[in-house]
Amino acid sequence: MNQDPKRFTITAALPYTNGPVHIGHLAGVYVPADIYARFQRLQGKEVAFVCGSDEHGVPITIKAKKEGITPQEVVDKYHAIIKQSFEDFGITFDNYSRTSAKVHHDTASEFFKKLYDDGKFVEEVTEQLYDEEASQFLADRFVVGTCPKCGNEESYGDQCENCGTSHNATDLINPKSAITGATPTLKETRHWFLPLDQYEPFLKQWILKDHKKDWKTNVYGQCKSWIDDGLRPRAVTRDLDWGIPVPVDGAEGKVLYVWFDAPIGYISATKEWAAREGKDWEPYWKSDDTKMLHFIGKDNIVFHCIIFPSMLKADGNYILPENVPANEFLNLEGNKISTSKNWAVWLHEYLEDFPNQQDVLRYVLTANAPETKDNDFTWADFQQRNNSELVAIFGNFINRVTVLTHKYYDGVVPEPSAFSEIDIQTLKELKAYPAVIESSIERYRFREAQAELMNVARLGNKYLADEEPWKTIKTDEARTKTVMYVALQIATALAVLSEPFLPFTSTKLKNILNVRSSTVETSLKWNDVSTKETLLPTGHTINQSELLFSKIEGEQIQKQLDKLETSKKKNEAMNTKAEPQKETIQFDDFTKLDMRVGTILEAEKMPKTKKLLVLKVDTGIDVRTIVSGIAESFRAEEIIGKQVTVLVNLAPRALRGVESQGMILMTENAEGKLVFVNPGEAGVTNGATIN
Ligand code: 2FM
Ligand code: ZN
Repeated sequence: MNQDPKRFTITAALPYTNGPVHIGHLAGVYVPADIYARFQRLQGKEVAFVCGSDEHGVPITIKAKKEGITPQEVVDKYHAIIKQSFEDFGITFDNYSRTSAKVHHDTASEFFKKLYDDGKFVEEVTEQLYDEEASQFLADRFVVGTCPKCGNEESYGDQCENCGTSHNATDLINPKSAITGATPTLKETRHWFLPLDQYEPFLKQWILKDHKKDWKTNVYGQCKSWIDDGLRPRAVTRDLDWGIPVPVDGAEGKVLYVWFDAPIGYISATKEWAAREGKDWEPYWKSDDTKMLHFIGKDNIVFHCIIFPSMLKADGNYILPENVPANEFLNLEGNKISTSKNWAVWLHEYLEDFPNQQDVLRYVLTANAPETKDNDFTWADFQQRNNSELVAIFGNFINRVTVLTHKYYDGVVPEPSAFSEIDIQTLKELKAYPAVIESSIERYRFREAQAELMNVARLGNKYLADEEPWKTIKTDEARTKTVMYVALQIATALAVLSEPFLPFTSTKLKNILNVRSSTVETSLKWNDVSTKETLLPTGHTINQSELLFSKIEGEQIQKQLDKLETSKKKNEAMNTKAEPQKETIQFDDFTKLDMRVGTILEAEKMPKTKKLLVLKVDTGIDVRTIVSGIAESFRAEEIIGKQVTVLVNLAPRALRGVESQGMILMTENAEGKLVFVNPGEAGVTNGATIN
């Protein structure tokens, strides 16, 4: 293990460009990676923090088919949205690239070509799944079937999302085409395989021995299980028309497997960045004094710990990752986050509802990060953490310090007199925090690190509560100055230490403390908090105070819960299967039904009932009373004047003592709300028959 790396290559999983990004992405990968990258930069380290859009692969093609546009149009649309979301949330990539970029096509092709020329692949004609109807080979997500390992019936061709196993499409039990639903046939095709079995000894040494202790147990455990199961050759090419063409003769119509090209995207992104910055990319990938880390979600472990390292090893010129701190999954209100079910909090939508509150989400996602097990995001927890932690602890401390500094000293940092035991103790505790937080960050325990940051704010609050400058100001001016001086040092420490976690707040706080434009900030580094006697000198003037956080109200939370409820209802409606057709009837039976167009003239709630409305309906024949069970879907006043379909010859029946003389035809919409079966055409007169 390289103890004192000269530089860091920090990669974050390239998101598939077939939809926007949500809180699960942020919590699992991008916030922890950003905390780590920001922290290393604050330490004065050289960092290449790279990411980009994963624009190949079957999910993109499927999305394009669904939307009736080209795959390029799909990736152009979502690349822009995703890139913007990352910027909005302060994810400080040094480069956010994309795998459709020329630099990536060139890099991935060269990578493949070198392995090909060096004889690292096995070329073989094998039988692959084929959809006769679509005239297409079924790779990866084009085929769904039962996972041979866990029995999940919805496993994809290359990976089962339930147990994480990565397999070959032909391993699936009972495979079905995701394009036509047809049962695939087998057809011969030529492909190139990376013989993973040959890398077993290397992987056993590198993971099971060298990294047994320092990799997270969830990551180590998954790797061990795959290695123990025995590794088999994996095809790195596909018969598809979207992707990077296989750069060898006789491979027309074939592209690189998306999981072959995507991780090479980290290299291309580094190259692109280095070219832009006038740097050399190679040390970031080839030098032993570089520490490389891959931040990913748990479904990506096999690709980053087994396949990509084997590719790097096969090339022979690359370093390997020092660690792969993969997170588990974040659920939302007790259910798995799902793009297709719209069960997610989309980052761009969050910002519409909570403008400028990026740090609140970053904070909650880190406080609740799925570091060792799946975790749940709830809106109630979001509100609670904002109101009783960010507002009540962090915000409250800063507000008290800055307001009192203005009130007592016109915003000028006062001169302290001799420190008391408590002052000395408090400053000593403060100086210990950078090392404590650092130790947690270096072990990828970001929740713990952030909790320690909050302890700095707690230290400040306790100090003020114990020393009560608002009381001593009346009796002891010198003591008050000392207390305020100490409190201002704590506030400044918070501005520095909060930067990796709450970057927007840190900037705001630095503005308030007036340490951004002055010379003070240039001297403020992470370690200064423990080594410097003074962070904010006597005589320095701070700016006017502003609130760092504001309370989140119940209505805002309810609005979010309502949104989710709507998604749930839509999903339920979509999943409801149409009822089976009833028994056949003869035409004569149908003609017995007398259905007419009518207009609702009056409507009022039936007293003491939840569901019933009493209606007066003009049927064209007469005006009659109909009792209808629609009160949960409509208010009485909104349906007056509506034209509806009425079954007029239904035998009258009494409902709660009111005789109902017919029935209004209704159905349910996708959200589970009742809607009228409407005559639909303008100008239909009441009494018109329906047949
Ligand atoms: O799971 C995913 O979203 C993949 N697009 C991650 C790719 S990571 C890498 F290797 F590029
Ligand atoms: Zn499985």
